[in-house]
Amino acid sequence: MYKELNTSTRILMGPGPSDAHPRVLKAMSTPLIGHLDPEFVTIMDEVKEMVQKTFITKNHLTFVVSAPGSAGMETCLVNLVEPGDEVIICVNGVFGGRMADIAERCGATVHKIEKEWGTVVSAADVKKMLEICPKPKLVALVHAETSTGALQPIKEISDLVHDAGGLLMVDAVTSYCGVELRVDDWGIDAIYTGTQKNLSAPPGLSPVSFSNRALKVLENRKTKVQSWFLDLSLVKNYWGGAKRAYHHTAPVSSVYALRESLRIVLEEGLENRWKRHQEVHLALKSKLERLGFTYLVEEQYRLPNLNSVFLPEGNDEALLRSKLLNEYNIEVGGGLGTFAGKIWRIGIMGESCTLNHVNMLISALEDIKEFKKG
Ligand SMILES: Cc1ncc(COP(=O)(O)O)c(C=O)c1O
Repeated sequence: MYKELNTSTRILMGPGPSDAHPRVLKAMSTPLIGHLDPEFVTIMDEVKEMVQKTFITKNHLTFVVSAPGSAGMETCLVNLVEPGDEVIICVNGVFGGRMADIAERCGATVHKIEKEWGTVVSAADVKKMLEICPKPKLVALVHAETSTGALQPIKEISDLVHDAGGLLMVDAVTSYCGVELRVDDWGIDAIYTGTQKNLSAPPGLSPVSFSNRALKVLENRKTKVQSWFLDLSLVKNYWGGAKRAYHHTAPVSSVYALRESLRIVLEEGLENRWKRHQEVHLALKSKLERLGFTYLVEEQYRLPNLNSVFLPEGNDEALLRSKLLNEYNIEVGGGLGTFAGKIWRIGIMGESCTLNHVNMLISALEDIKEFKKG
């Protein structure tokens, strides 16, 4: 027979998921109600409002896709891009590469601005690409590239995109609720995020939001959206509109969890939360550097909540990572793609962003006899 589920109690300091607040776990065990029950409709309305507050947007078309961040990415692209469109995608890591792949599958002509992993895309890079593709339907970039720990400036690129008549699409999976992000002020037209990073809710949902500019593009589509499940013209009436219409069955328990995690964020205050991530990052950074770790990303563009670091010379990263997990119950992430086997990605996100987490990790490292300080 299969045994009762009994996982280890881990300390989650990787690229996500992060530790969940006990209040979020408790919310998940709330009894189920029907997804069209008036009480659940109220819960959906509250979640939508809290997502608007945390994105800092008044966008009416703001809701939660019932699937993880990748589905949010796909929702933005399949709805805004049609065969034959020209789009510009900024690629400086794994997730920019995925956006380009999806846009190609939508039949777009994709112009990639490719930058070395660990660096960011500059306004000058975008200007140069606009000379080759002067009228893009959309320009997409990743605010926080989780594969490298780079934080992409957005504001300075936004005007360039709008002056060229395009939409600005942003991946905020790892930045949302951890670093400054202002959807309306920064002129973002389509944005998606995930729940398992700085929100500290379970993975599996993707809050999204679309500007009025993006709405106009949707209204003027010439072709049907190729995905039924992600077609905004169908799903939007489920999360809003005068009359709720059945579209699919919402993951009720996950929405409970998301609601509680959003309540926690708003109780703390967004700006306090951004500040906490920065302060804990500085504490972690000074301790890591004392042990001989060095950062991949230039200081100016470093994500505070995802620290990508090279280990001191002579260490076996896989061995140390497995000892941290199996002997100390601490999860840190390894590198992806170009940086597989070369860096660690240490997440301090949401509930995992405390000085206690920093101290637990540093003490564990100092305790491992195979670890060689730099
Ligand atoms: C920047 C970024 N975009 C998209 C995704 C995809 O999100 P999910 O794994 O929830 O599908 C991730 C996941 O880590 C991510 O870090």
